[in-house]
Amino acid sequence: MSVFDAGTIEARWKRAEAALAATGATVLVGAGTPVGKPGGLDQAYPFLPHPQYYWLTGERRSGGVLAWEPGAGWTHFVRPVTADERLWEGDPVAPAGEDVAKLPEWLKARAGRTIAAAGSPVKGVSGDEAASAAVREALDDARRPKDAAEMALLARAVAATAAGFARARAALRPGLTERELQIEIEAAMFRAGAGETGYGTIVGAGDHTAVLHFEPGPRRIAADDLVLIDAGGAISGYTADVTRTLPASGRFSPEQQAIFDAVDAARAEGIRRCAPGTEWHDVHRAAAVVLASGLRDAGILRGSPEGLAESGAVALFFPHGIGHMVGLGVRDVGGRAPGREEGRFCCGARVRVDMPVREGFLMTIEPGIYFVPAILDDAGKRAQHRDAVDWDGLARWRRVGGVRLEDNVLVTAKGPRVITSEIP
Ligand code: GLY
Ligand code: MN
Ligand code: MN
Repeated sequence: MSVFDAGTIEARWKRAEAALAATGATVLVGAGTPVGKPGGLDQAYPFLPHPQYYWLTGERRSGGVLAWEPGAGWTHFVRPVTADERLWEGDPVAPAGEDVAKLPEWLKARAGRTIAAAGSPVKGVSGDEAASAAVREALDDARRPKDAAEMALLARAVAATAAGFARARAALRPGLTERELQIEIEAAMFRAGAGETGYGTIVGAGDHTAVLHFEPGPRRIAADDLVLIDAGGAISGYTADVTRTLPASGRFSPEQQAIFDAVDAARAEGIRRCAPGTEWHDVHRAAAVVLASGLRDAGILRGSPEGLAESGAVALFFPHGIGHMVGLGVRDVGGRAPGREEGRFCCGARVRVDMPVREGFLMTIEPGIYFVPAILDDAGKRAQHRDAVDWDGLARWRRVGGVRLEDNVLVTAKGPRVITSEIP
């Protein structure tokens, strides 16, 4: 059964049609097929429908294909429930539609037309390369702004995530392992309604806070450690993506406090910049300047904040983008404005979202300052930024590890709305 009501699906089809009509192609959007586990006989990884298919149908069943053609509209081909499924899985409900076995015949009747293949690959269909690329971009663009049904799911995902962070604060104490804290957080998220985690939960203590995507392990948290928690509960595929960095003892050291304050100021500046029409790279730049200013006030960087951002010196400590689209999956849509090359750098970091934000976009704002040995001990980088950094004074800062703060921000005409603000 569709996760979304008929009105929501109809509105999405209308939104998509407007963009698809311009391509003139007959369009197929595949749900995808499960990926079998190596040597796992009949075992497969949990199935994730392609987001383009899921957004257009609300269905999580594999094997479906949603077709569209100019003039005729939409046809949903679905995989019927088999006797084996009834035996092993109870009685799964297949979406209403045509048997997907009829798709080859349907396509044969359209021989000679330009076919665009979107979503996951459909067996036996290659699709015209240019038309497929145009249709993929059109579908992605149609689903960039979140609708009310998506925001309702996200509100529940945020509530579950908030429960996880509340549990983290209550449970956090020196002596606990990172893994034990992860278990506390995830159990609380599941109890509060999360169906799954939106991504691998990150819990890092001490120097592990400087590993951007750290996987929690058996390390025991020390009293003077920072603990970085990046976690999101997901409901029906929609996830929050939240980071908080906490002192294990409840009190920051002066160094930890200085770094935290700089990151928090950049977080506020990044959020403030989330207005319709603002280039995402400009949001990144504004936050990078604030971080550079904090690092200069701490005596770590030397020079003007604007110059330190432009030269990329700030990326020695802030090596990732300011954020990404979030919602349907932890990396939702993203992309770049037409005509822009992929992976353009800004302030020394590769910032993958490269377009102006619009009303309804849900973005993460996640500035961070990290003392990463692999960066700070790199001879080439040290030479390149020789005069911008107090290299000799760095030793006392390295113990901080890293601080990241991450919120999820809805871009609206009335100003940015931080949907994760209930998480202190
Ligand atoms: N949770 C991964 C990220 O923040 O991008
Ligand atoms: Mn995150
Ligand atoms: Mn993120």
